[in-house]
Amino acid sequence: MKRLDGKVALITGAGSGFGLGIAETFAREGAKVAVVDINESAARTAAEKIGTAAIGLSADVSKAADVNNVVAATLSAFGKLDIVVNNAGISHRNRPMLEVEEDEFDRVFAVNVKSIYLFAKAAVPLMHSQGGGAIINVGSTAGLRPRPGLTWYNSTKGAVHTMTKSMAVELAPQKIRVCAVAPVAGETPLLATFMGEDTPQKREQFINSIPLGRFSTPQDIANAALYLASDEASMITGVVLEVDGGRCI
Ligand SMILES: NC(=O)c1ccc[n+]([C@@H]2O[C@H](COP(=O)([O-])OP(=O)(O)OC[C@H]3O[C@@H](n4cnc5c(N)ncnc54)[C@H](O)[C@@H]3O)[C@@H](O)[C@H]2O)c1
Repeated sequence: MKRLDGKVALITGAGSGFGLGIAETFAREGAKVAVVDINESAARTAAEKIGTAAIGLSADVSKAADVNNVVAATLSAFGKLDIVVNNAGISHRNRPMLEVEEDEFDRVFAVNVKSIYLFAKAAVPLMHSQGGGAIINVGSTAGLRPRPGLTWYNSTKGAVHTMTKSMAVELAPQKIRVCAVAPVAGETPLLATFMGEDTPQKREQFINSIPLGRFSTPQDIANAALYLASDEASMITGVVLEVDGGRCI
């Protein structure tokens, strides 16, 4: 018996980094997965690599029509939807807060925060009609223990954590659990944006701030998301699980 046997999951930003790790892990544990990414070829390549348990779909998670389309496509491919992982995210490059332009601020909030609202609108009625479901949001230690230079990004992750708790309490009567994972800096293409510059000194500075002494990996994040999405966590909702090697202590 695999841990997600019989489940259907939609994972956003699954063409790369943490999302790809989550999609591969969920499929390995028996789920059917919709690999959603704004980068269409990355979504398709990831789905092909996973095999028949996966479909690759392109969407901009900040656009309602795209979100509705991928939920409908998942339903038509697999017949239901049990798990949504809101993982897609972006950041402004690490720099002083007043240097971030308004359009960049708006974009970071649209992709990181508004997307969760849009997926709730699309998926919650469906989950309710099916008798329940699980929503996993990818937050960040950035929303718990902010670093300078990432102020607006950090704020989006604070919003993700608060949305998680508020959605959890409002959706509990419908048996829809809502949890978040809060990764510490991880080895993905986004890391350079968070560090501002990818130099050995910057890497050392970041790693020195993590008690367990390493960056997080897509597998670390996937393991936590797997647990929270599975029925093993059926009594758990509204948690923000730090996957951070002790960074937030
Ligand atoms: N890497 C880190 O250090 C770190 C730490 C904490 C939290 N996070 C969070 O983890 C999540 C995944 O980040 P990652 O590090 O794997 O980054 P990544 O850049 O490797 O992957 C993000 C994926 O999201 C996709 N994406 C971007 N905008 C999108 C949109 N509008 N619609 C659909 N897809 C979109 C990208 O194409 C990419 O494939 C993000 O929410 C990020 O904020 C990352």
